[in-house]
Amino acid sequence: MSNVDVVLGAFYGDEGKGKIIDYLSTNADVSIRCTGGNNAGHTIEVDGVKYAFHLIPSGILNENTLAVIGNGVVIDPRVLIEEIDNLKAHGFSVSNLRISDKAHIIMPYHIAMDKLLEENRGNDKIGTTARGIGPTYCDKYERSGIRVQDFVNPERFKNCVIRNVENKNKIFALYGKEQLDAEKIFEEYSKYATILKPYVVDTVVLLHNCIKDNKKLLCEGAQATLLDIDFGSYPFVTSSNPSMGGICAGSGISPKNIGEIYGVIKAYSSRVGTGPFLTEQLNETGDKIRELGHEYGTTTKRPRRCGWLDLVAIKYSVMVNGITAIAINHMDTIGKFDKIKLCVAYNHKGKVTTDFSTNPDYLNNCEAVYEEFDGNFGDLSNCKTKEDLPINAKNYLKRIEEVLEVPVKFIGTGAGRENLILC
Ligand code: GDP
Ligand code: IMO
Ligand code: MG
Repeated sequence: MSNVDVVLGAFYGDEGKGKIIDYLSTNADVSIRCTGGNNAGHTIEVDGVKYAFHLIPSGILNENTLAVIGNGVVIDPRVLIEEIDNLKAHGFSVSNLRISDKAHIIMPYHIAMDKLLEENRGNDKIGTTARGIGPTYCDKYERSGIRVQDFVNPERFKNCVIRNVENKNKIFALYGKEQLDAEKIFEEYSKYATILKPYVVDTVVLLHNCIKDNKKLLCEGAQATLLDIDFGSYPFVTSSNPSMGGICAGSGISPKNIGEIYGVIKAYSSRVGTGPFLTEQLNETGDKIRELGHEYGTTTKRPRRCGWLDLVAIKYSVMVNGITAIAINHMDTIGKFDKIKLCVAYNHKGKVTTDFSTNPDYLNNCEAVYEEFDGNFGDLSNCKTKEDLPINAKNYLKRIEEVLEVPVKFIGTGAGRENLILC
């Protein structure tokens, strides 16, 4: 029996995963974040009020849904406490929050190291969110990381902090950077540990008990497949596996329990940070998409790079993740164009192909092959079913389904919770 559905970003992030999760979690008993950290920014608009989630699963807005931060997540305790306080200030209960004892803690030296590493890259910067994500995962794999279970044990935590700060300070000294004070950090972070301790459990056991009890689980992907450390445009990626494999590794849920895998896309493309983006429009079209779609980062406020939808890249995501259904947002935004371009293939040195690879030897020699569609969808806010959509919108969606060979199950027609068509 499949009790676990998954929502994943299918391009370079910010596809509107939060909105899809918000809807799906109304029927879920448990909502789980499995990878990444507060590099993520998931927006949900309820009655005109915007909520931005960075660490807590967006499902927390539904008071009947247990919100779990899984073992694969890296947690900045300061940010998590801010998020908890913010939710409480808006009248939401966080008593349904659970934090994995195996998740790793982002420490101040990770954030300093993220900035230092970017500085050292000179002209080849990744454009990270500077939240300490990469260095925290580095320590996890190097086995000097601080897990939540160490964090809430004062003796173990103190030992870890002293040892790690001493080691990192040697590196900071080499680069002439400020030295960190282990005692001060321990004192400050111990207070955070006391606040967060009540939420800490073994989430692996918890989730398996939920599955045994026939509960409905929903995994909230962060980032996206093309930012995946293995499958993305390395090195311009994040430091985790935001694709399907990361969901299982970051939660302890077995692949045999997985049901629907929703791939979220926008009706156009966007990317933040450096790296390849074949359909990017460095012109008035890109600027128009950015302004119409309000494409500015939820986490860093950076203007997002914008372009036409690239189905060759998305099809690769469908393949890697085994995506069973597509959720497409911003149909209202793309519908404001007279003519819409859709990339259905690449031209690689004169040969038309649908092969995808982020290897620069390949991608730098590819040009997008576009089909053109009529836009001017008009006001979609009264469209409650796919049938209600204007013919131009239907034609665009039909071609996307044809190329991806996956059905579209959700259509976003606006930022609000209510602007979602179920197919
Ligand atoms: P996430 O990181 O994948 O959850 O996406 P973000 O929240 O970073 O970015 C998506 C942005 O698009 C947010 O500002 C959403 O409120 C907005 N959004 C989502 N779906 C739609 C839609 O269908 N139409 C419009 N106009 N905005 C949308
Ligand atoms: P959500 O979940 C868009 C990008 C950063 C940078 C690269 C590495 O909101 O879709 P990192 O700080 O992770 O080391 O940065 O990854 N990035 C995202 N881009 N949406 C995200 O999350 C992202 N999380 C990381 O911009 O290019
Ligand atoms: Mg986002």
